Amino acid sequence: MPEARGNAEAVSSAPGSRAPGLALDDLPDGLVVVAADGSITDLNDVAGRLLGRPRGELLGMPLRRALPLQDTSGRRWWDVLRDDGRRPSGVTDDGHGERLLLLPGGTELLVTARFHRDATGTLQRAVLALRTPDERRRAETDTTSLIATVAHELRSPLTSVKQFTASLLRRWDRFTDEQKRLMLSTVQADAERVSRLVGDLLDVARVDAGRLTVHRRPMDLATLVREHVDRLRMAGYDDDRFVLTVAEDLPELWADPDRMAQVVTNLVDNAVRHGAGTVAVDVTGADGSIVLTVDDAGEGIAAENRPYVFSKFWHGGGRSGTGLGLYVTRGLVEAHGGDVDVDSSPAGGARFTVRLPAGEPG
Ligand SMILES: Nc1ncnc2c1ncn2[C@@H]1O[C@H](COP(=O)(O)OP(=O)(O)OP(=O)(O)O)[C@@H](O)[C@H]1O
Ligand SMILES: [Mg+2]
Repeated sequence: MPEARGNAEAVSSAPGSRAPGLALDDLPDGLVVVAADGSITDLNDVAGRLLGRPRGELLGMPLRRALPLQDTSGRRWWDVLRDDGRRPSGVTDDGHGERLLLLPGGTELLVTARFHRDATGTLQRAVLALRTPDERRRAETDTTSLIATVAHELRSPLTSVKQFTASLLRRWDRFTDEQKRLMLSTVQADAERVSRLVGDLLDVARVDAGRLTVHRRPMDLATLVREHVDRLRMAGYDDDRFVLTVAEDLPELWADPDRMAQVVTNLVDNAVRHGAGTVAVDVTGADGSIVLTVDDAGEGIAAENRPYVFSKFWHGGGRSGTGLGLYVTRGLVEAHGGDVDVDSSPAGGARFTVRLPAGEPG
């Protein structure tokens, strides 16, 4: 179909116009253009390859014959497109998003359809994009490996819980009180790790579904930070590892204390685990906001990676971690009407800044 091909190849150097010489054959997906009468007027080489016929043979062929597609329930694709009141969800007058369809012989194709209509709604032409499900399978494999990571993170603390409790039960009388206390506190820490991870997973599901609820009431963020830092000191971190600075006359903060505790824990624990040196936590007020800053003096996060750190499961490929903490943190902060971002700290490490609206929510 000379027309569409001609358009796509139009040579121009104006900004925003098509790249000079861009042709349908440059596209990574198969593309088929269909006229109002249902015959194929253009297609690229990828489409020909996916449909197993040379381009010349497919040009002019009725779509029904060229693409005898069915869905996995045995419905013919052509029938599915017709507006007879029985169209499956997702199929509209404008076309449909990616659907998995089958060619005779069982070859799977992912098909996206876009219908172009004139002002009266009459179909002018349809454009179909075709691709194989390989890419999607690769994405599914990625998901599987994420599940494996989470399962692994759950299993290691549970293994330690099992081993310690088994030894205690078997040889209770032979351990000193000191040994028993040590083993039980390890069991407790591991149980806490598991319950935190499970909590994170539940929160991820809530963030994904937009169902994260927060119960805002007046709260003292500085005290909450101080308590968390004290807990870390009691757990054995050096006193001077943490520096907490709190501005005077902070504006009132209405927030969910449990959720804020999660935010503080995630950021401070990251600074300890992924960063190094002094962890400086700062609570100030600015422009109707309460600002929480967590700095560390480690290697920081490379500028090109910063836009990705809040993504679900992103863990930078480095040390162990599920990559959920910051995703949940952002979800929690945004549920409070605030925002969080990452930068570099003056000491060269990472700086995370949380801004929360001050005062009673309107
Ligand atoms: N202070 C920091 N310094 C350097 N890198 C960091 C810092 N905070 C986060 N990162 C990087 O960002 C990644 C994502 O952090 P996030 O808290 O989302 O997940 P995680 O800490 O790996 O696992 P989880 O929090 O679920 O236990 C980390 O794996 C780490 O690579
Ligand atoms: Mg984390």
